[in-house]
Amino acid sequence: MSAPLAIVILAAGLGTRMKSRKAKVLHRAGGRALIEHVIDTALDLTQPERIFVVVGHQADEVRKAVTHPGIRFIEQTEQKGTGHAVMVGREWLEPLKGYLMILYGDSPLLRTQTLLQLIDRQTASEAACTLLSADMDDPTGYGRVIRNDADLSVEEIVEQKAANPQQLAIREANMGIYCFRADLFWQYVDQLGTNNPAGEYYLTDMVAILNGAGYKVEAMRIDDANEALGINDRADLANVDRILRSRKRLELMRDGITIENPDTVTIDSHVRIGMDSVVEPFARLLGRTVIGENCHIGAGAIVHDSQLADDVVIDPYTLVSHSRLERGVHAGPFARLRMQNVVGEGAHIGNFVELKKTQMGPGAKANHLAYLGDSTIGAKANIGAGTITCNYDGFTKHATTIGDGAFIGSNSTLVAPIDIGPGAYTAAGSVITDAVPEDALALGRAQQVVKPDWARKRRARPKA
Ligand code: UD1
Ligand code: CA
Repeated sequence: MSAPLAIVILAAGLGTRMKSRKAKVLHRAGGRALIEHVIDTALDLTQPERIFVVVGHQADEVRKAVTHPGIRFIEQTEQKGTGHAVMVGREWLEPLKGYLMILYGDSPLLRTQTLLQLIDRQTASEAACTLLSADMDDPTGYGRVIRNDADLSVEEIVEQKAANPQQLAIREANMGIYCFRADLFWQYVDQLGTNNPAGEYYLTDMVAILNGAGYKVEAMRIDDANEALGINDRADLANVDRILRSRKRLELMRDGITIENPDTVTIDSHVRIGMDSVVEPFARLLGRTVIGENCHIGAGAIVHDSQLADDVVIDPYTLVSHSRLERGVHAGPFARLRMQNVVGEGAHIGNFVELKKTQMGPGAKANHLAYLGDSTIGAKANIGAGTITCNYDGFTKHATTIGDGAFIGSNSTLVAPIDIGPGAYTAAGSVITDAVPEDALALGRAQQVVKPDWARKRRARPKA
């Protein structure tokens, strides 16, 4: 690039058409706030110190959503239009020479590649500005691009509300992405007025203003109008979410991941998956989840902010949240790994087993119906069906430790804090309240009583 670039992202609006108490750019698509998508794209183009976000509605929340260090914020306390939003940053922006790129925070589908092309077009031309446009099947709500018949340069952008029927019939829409020559922008920006149906300072009026001053404005028409879809209401949001998710799945499939019936699968944009892994229909892979190679994610499983090593199998309808599963772990179907679990290599967690803040050693098994909370379970320990750690006494949580190779009989009730030694057994149906030493057997159940012939005698008794 020949001259430096500053980027302004407009994100101050409430987004009235969203009908929400939350600022529009905080709504999520593809698993991230809209503003995060645009910030990521901007970071591909210039250094953070030259990126400015104009905030207004819920300014603090929007600032918090922008986590990358160095990015600067400009406050627009009253939203008087897209032109006004840039003008309030004049003090910081005007000294920056070169090119001024303006993006709207509600267009998260933009690709870096397209913006690089736009910058190239602008820097190579004599124009005062190059903007992005696309032919849309239904351009309702977008500004229309009015071109000059002779040289096809752009004479003006007419907003939906101000357009006459002839202009409304134009399908070429303004995508809301501009690369201005910074010096000319600041020289003429004062000519922006509010003489339009909305009474706002329209950034789009800069096109006519620059033309009036004798400069040319060009439009770079993109083939895929989807790329610059703006989000104005919840239907747009759903549409953009669908596109982002489909892009993500396609990217993963190209990287060697099998996705069955892909349209049903939801994968957030930050998720990473290793080669030869298979994802079954209706799975949801969310947040910062990282999945290794050759894993199998069953139908309807949900994996949230978790790390799965290679060869992990998550059977259908299993929930894994904020947990780490080492190589070869098998979980589900219908298991719940609630939070902060670390499951060792080759361990098994079967149906209707819930784990919370539990460490399971390599090769340990809890194959059916158990609650294991605040526990440390040794290697190759076997947890019988129906085992419950009583980790809560109504006031605080208590820990359970189970040693390597221990065998917890079915329906054991382990009253924490409790310590069961390596190799120890607990008998089925026991309530265990005291520590069990290494290699011992603990029985904590009533002695069985057998009364011979009791039933026969009962039947022989005369009826009353
Ligand atoms: C705008 C364009 C329209 C274009 C469309 C593309 C104008 C006047 N119109 O219309 O030509 O086709 O985008 O999506 O620019 N914002 C502020 N402060 C304000 C007003 C808006 O920060 O005072 C922000 C909003 O938060 C939003 C962005 O600017 O992120 C765009 O505003 P919006 O009201 O959605 O503009 P559109 O009506 O979609
Ligand atoms: Ca918009």
